[in-house]
Amino acid sequence: MEPKNSLFDTAVVGGQRLRNRIVLPPLTRSRADDDGVPTPLMEEYYRQRAGAGLVISEGTVIAPQATAYTRVPGLYSAEQVAAWRPVVEAAKREGAVVYAQLWHVGRQSHSSVQPDGLPPNGPSPIAITGYQYRSANGRIPYETPRELTTADIAEIVQAYGTAARNAVSAGFDGVELHAANGYLIDQFLNDGSNCRTDLYGGSLENRTRFLREVITELARHLPMDRIGVRLSPSSDWMDAHDSDKRTLYSTVVRQLNDFRIGYLHLVEPEIAGSTTVDRPADSVPTAELAALFDGVVIVTGGHDQASAERLLADGTADLVGFGRLFISNPDLPRRFQTQAPLEPLRPTGIYGGGPEGYTDYPSLAASGA
Ligand SMILES: Cc1cc2nc3c(=O)[nH]c(=O)nc-3n(C[C@H](O)[C@H](O)[C@H](O)COP(=O)(O)O)c2cc1C
Repeated sequence: MEPKNSLFDTAVVGGQRLRNRIVLPPLTRSRADDDGVPTPLMEEYYRQRAGAGLVISEGTVIAPQATAYTRVPGLYSAEQVAAWRPVVEAAKREGAVVYAQLWHVGRQSHSSVQPDGLPPNGPSPIAITGYQYRSANGRIPYETPRELTTADIAEIVQAYGTAARNAVSAGFDGVELHAANGYLIDQFLNDGSNCRTDLYGGSLENRTRFLREVITELARHLPMDRIGVRLSPSSDWMDAHDSDKRTLYSTVVRQLNDFRIGYLHLVEPEIAGSTTVDRPADSVPTAELAALFDGVVIVTGGHDQASAERLLADGTADLVGFGRLFISNPDLPRRFQTQAPLEPLRPTGIYGGGPEGYTDYPSLAASGA
């Protein structure tokens, strides 16, 4: 039987045609300046990887309080918006559709990077255990977050809206809401990090409220089908625990159906943040959640060309993301298409630094192959 779709078939997301089904997933690379302003080096990096049908930006913070680390870009100041424009334009000129991943880290931040020098905010005063914060002076324990008030929550929802408006103004085609990997939205969803007794905690209806409010706010600034949502339903990374992941995430996916968002981006169970691990015992199969979703599904995590083609052929995914492979192979679609060898990832320059390990990976054209 012929496969249903292949990586080189076109697809439509948010009314826009993608030239292939290959996605550059969000990858934090820490090359913005100290004020979260994108740099010309980032323009080169995204241009190199714009052979993907869909390019999703690295996690981009919606407010100064939303960050965990320096040199992560933002979308809250006029300077940031102006500096994103040439970056986005460079990738669009190469034919990619370009989305901004909107990010708030919640309790994964630290007082050392908070504007007011106080511990970060989270849904509940429950610190991350089992992991350590990467501070400028080495690894240190996470702090107990300050519990967000309902007024704080309303302010953050607004900040998501402002960031979405800024994303449109910077030229992005759409936004991806980062609701994965134990960051703020995920902290509200999981009962391991949310023990609130108000409208934002307790029942599933309440724990999913923040996510729904943010989506509603984003949709004031761009069409609903230009909004994607990223979930990591099985991941325990950064102490993201829920006592019933299957019920939680199937509820979330059904709610996303009601919104008619542009796409659902699922991270595979074998992924813990940026690394591959054993599948957690209580993992929820990607195919099960993908089947519940009515729209476009992107799947990312540990895939190569062959496994991605299988996901498309069996109907689990409509598009597939390649993270680490894209870091070391800027022209990954071309390499797939020509069956060219793949460059291995080098440990230097993954986070921060200059061109080394960032824009200096060879492309076939440049190497004359
Ligand atoms: C260096 C690095 C940075 C990452 N930054 C982000 C990020 O900003 N937002 C996000 O949602 N995921 C982030 N991820 C996770 C990737 O999007 C992806 O889910 C993960 O790498 C698994 O896919 P892969 O096996 O194809 O690399 C990052 C991963 C890596 C390796």
